[in-house]
Amino acid sequence: MVQITELVFRDGHQSVLATRLRTEDMLPIAKTVDEVGFFSVEVWGGATFDVCLRYLAEDPWERLRLFKQNMPNTPLQMLERAMNIVAYRNFPDDIVIKFIELAHKNGVDYFRIFDALNDLRNLKVPIEAAKKVGAHVQGALCYAISPVHTVEYYVEQFKELVKMGCDSLCIKDMAGIISPQRAYDIIKACKEEGIKVPIDLHSHATSGMADLAYIKACEAGVDIIDCCISPLAGGTGHPPTESIVAGLMDTPYDPGYDLQLLAKCRDYLQKVWEKYKHLHREQAMKVDPSVTVHQIPGGMLSNFVIQLEQFGAVDKYHEVLLETARVQKDFGWPPLVTPTSQIIGVQATLNVVFGRYKRVTKETKDYVKGMYGNPPAEISDEVKEMVLGPNWRDEVITCRPADLLEPMYKKTREEMASKGLPTTPEWIVSYALFPAQTEDFLRGRSKPEFTSQQLPLELGPGERRFKARLNGSEYDVVILKSKGG
Ligand code: CO
Repeated sequence: MVQITELVFRDGHQSVLATRLRTEDMLPIAKTVDEVGFFSVEVWGGATFDVCLRYLAEDPWERLRLFKQNMPNTPLQMLERAMNIVAYRNFPDDIVIKFIELAHKNGVDYFRIFDALNDLRNLKVPIEAAKKVGAHVQGALCYAISPVHTVEYYVEQFKELVKMGCDSLCIKDMAGIISPQRAYDIIKACKEEGIKVPIDLHSHATSGMADLAYIKACEAGVDIIDCCISPLAGGTGHPPTESIVAGLMDTPYDPGYDLQLLAKCRDYLQKVWEKYKHLHREQAMKVDPSVTVHQIPGGMLSNFVIQLEQFGAVDKYHEVLLETARVQKDFGWPPLVTPTSQIIGVQATLNVVFGRYKRVTKETKDYVKGMYGNPPAEISDEVKEMVLGPNWRDEVITCRPADLLEPMYKKTREEMASKGLPTTPEWIVSYALFPAQTEDFLRGRSKPEFTSQQLPLELGPGERRFKARLNGSEYDVVILKSKGG
């Protein structure tokens, strides 16, 4: 039997609706999702924390507590970006540890922890913190296509993660680029090498290969696959839960979930999907198999066009694709995911427009100095000199990047107290991560982009809105005209 991690309340809407689902639009179906019996339901972390404060004027901690109350039977999962927590730069150990304690206290049972470079030094502190509070730790490795990201590389890194205390493991293919055979080979090798903890495959539907990869992963003995209930599945999102469950029936991998219950979830989420129609992006829902040709994730390709337009050099598109592979090699083959995909994409564009490393961004310098962590392969002295200049030896660091950071918790509390802001632990760590957004929220200055009641923002001719009762609570439902064609 294979189990499923359900993603609709986090990665699902982060991938296809710009992370904008409001808590009140998710809660009405939470109890039904809870009844399905998923391995876990991802509800928190990633971009949701930032978006709650920045765009929704919502308390992310309250969201977590509400999910917990409404889903008492299913382990709740968060995506934790190692030393970046739920933000975009490194934080000191004290903030990371405190954040994890509080996340657990407010409702997170499973922590999926990853680092963009797969630098295990960056995973050590969050893994230890989550173990210490008694949570389940899932150690995740980003999937990449490169000469160093071999089957052996993943097996060895996963073995290390087991030694570090992980209760399960995850191949995190955030760009949706893993091929079915590759998924099979990695999982099979892990099992043959005696890795006993459950293994999860997380992929995205972007390239159109994910469903096939999941089937091959099942054949290799995968324990968990990540899916999203159908109205929010597909495209840059994930394989649809109901289709995968139905598709695995009569096989040894059948998760045995109730399709009627899943249909109930689908019916509700279809209304939510229609309600958020102002966020629909046709491009995001299209299959983009370009990665099968040049191994660069689709998201990066559209950025290249935008960047080249700024320099009036759209005709250099093909050169930038070739240069991207060279820069990725120069940089020690980091996975092409946030933030490395942006750093490499911008640098490759600059190299093509102005000459190789004639112009270098601050991010490129920080990366080559080691401020993000160790890349999978060494960066050559030659590249370090091109990027950092002749005195590069004085600038590179060899320690764990967070070792250079001063503790922050106490200072943050003092700063908040001096401003008259409430100093509960939850708000202290929120302020450490996102000071401006947290202060605005606490002072009641945050403005939501839209409220649930205002959605959809505009109704077309013949479309209407009415009140309905769903799962015991009254709910705004919108009937849209079906789109033609
Ligand atoms: Co994902």
